[in-house]
Amino acid sequence: MSLGVNNPKIDDQINHLFSEILIAQHEFMKTRAPDPEKAELVSKKLLEYEKIRGRGFFYPLLATGRGHGPFTELQDGSVKYDLISSIGVNLLGHSHPIFIKSCLEAATMDTLMTGNLHLYEDPIELSKELVSSVTKSNLKHFWFAGSGSFANDNAIKMIWQKSDGKTRILAAQKCFAGRSIATQDITHNLDYKKGMPTLLEVDHFPISENSNTEEQINETISNLESIYTDQHCAITLELVQGEGGFNVYPRELYVAIFKWAKEKKLFIWIDEIQSFGRTGELFAFQKLDLHEFPDVVTVGKALQSCGTLFSNELNPNPGLIAGTFQGSLSSIKAGRKILKYLTMGNFFGTGGRVEEIRTIFEQKMNLLNKSSQGFFNSTSGIGLMFAFQIKDGNKEDTANFIKKLFNNGIICFSCGKNPYKIRFLLPLCLNEEHINEIFEILEKTFKEFTGK
Ligand SMILES: Cc1ncc(COP(=O)(O)O)c(C=O)c1O
Repeated sequence: MSLGVNNPKIDDQINHLFSEILIAQHEFMKTRAPDPEKAELVSKKLLEYEKIRGRGFFYPLLATGRGHGPFTELQDGSVKYDLISSIGVNLLGHSHPIFIKSCLEAATMDTLMTGNLHLYEDPIELSKELVSSVTKSNLKHFWFAGSGSFANDNAIKMIWQKSDGKTRILAAQKCFAGRSIATQDITHNLDYKKGMPTLLEVDHFPISENSNTEEQINETISNLESIYTDQHCAITLELVQGEGGFNVYPRELYVAIFKWAKEKKLFIWIDEIQSFGRTGELFAFQKLDLHEFPDVVTVGKALQSCGTLFSNELNPNPGLIAGTFQGSLSSIKAGRKILKYLTMGNFFGTGGRVEEIRTIFEQKMNLLNKSSQGFFNSTSGIGLMFAFQIKDGNKEDTANFIKKLFNNGIICFSCGKNPYKIRFLLPLCLNEEHINEIFEILEKTFKEFTGK
């Protein structure tokens, strides 16, 4: 069935526009230094905006809307590698054909946003496709949300409604679940909730860092036992801690935690908002072969839409979960194409592109570790979630190094806390030439930083 206005002339013009836009975006595929005059103008604009929003910025980053693949052009005239994917959103890279096509298709529709009352076909299809991508699990339903935090809020509400008055939640130390009134209590970092009352009863347990997996399991389960009460209803985990420092643990540990949780009749809620599409399978719980465990899984970022996948048991009563928007039609169209692209392309599994990019990054970082005499060290993460430490991971050096990387052509960010790490959320479109240049920039920045 054709959707939106549709006739041969419109189709023709859409195809024409699509290739014209793509060709024009292809101009932005090489790093470029900033123009000092433009940089001054950007500083002025950002200062104006700083006054309105009440807070400054980590980077003088103002984009032009031009850029292709891993590259993004900024208004200071520079073109840089976006190695943080706009904090996780651009897994496919900038001006990907899927993004352009989705926007053009959405322009033929009669509205911008789709909602829960006035329904369109794309959210139905994306929901079906998401549920079909997790058939080995107990996840049977999907509900859209406006942000990752709100998808998590919905997960909490679904869990509470089926928990007979039990409300306490178990969460791992260092976890990040968002900044809504509910999720800020799950997020472990106290710096993010200064002055906030505690509204949710959340008990944070440390995951043991013991390198002996058996001991690690025993220690972690004993940490859980020591805080568990019969008022707990759920345990939440990011299988790859994002903000927390790209920490990922052996499958056996997760199995032990989840089996323990099932024995205690806790609901298992996995937050895949940052990990979706990045670990070498669509979901980290699939990568780690944990299909049987989750009762609820939340997604966002790279999907271009956010929402909650949940089991039959957690299906809420009418009225609990609702809201005006499901999302923008262009984003939901893009989500459908992204899902297809990721699952049908040669990205996942053994020998897939995610694994290849990871291997090259690890090899090159090992070389850099040796040539820098340990300045670059402690890589962590999985798949396209790649973090590393510089020196002892102190806050000041890490922030300064990230800012120098920005000046030299790489946009990235930090994660973790004592030690702080440098975080790359690598785009899938990186090729060998890009990776070589990225490591040249890392080396150049190291020389500038150390004066060696
Ligand atoms: C693991 C995780 N959960 C939840 C969120 C919150 O998502 P949002 O910023 O879309 O509300 C994030 C965002 O960084 C995240 O990484």
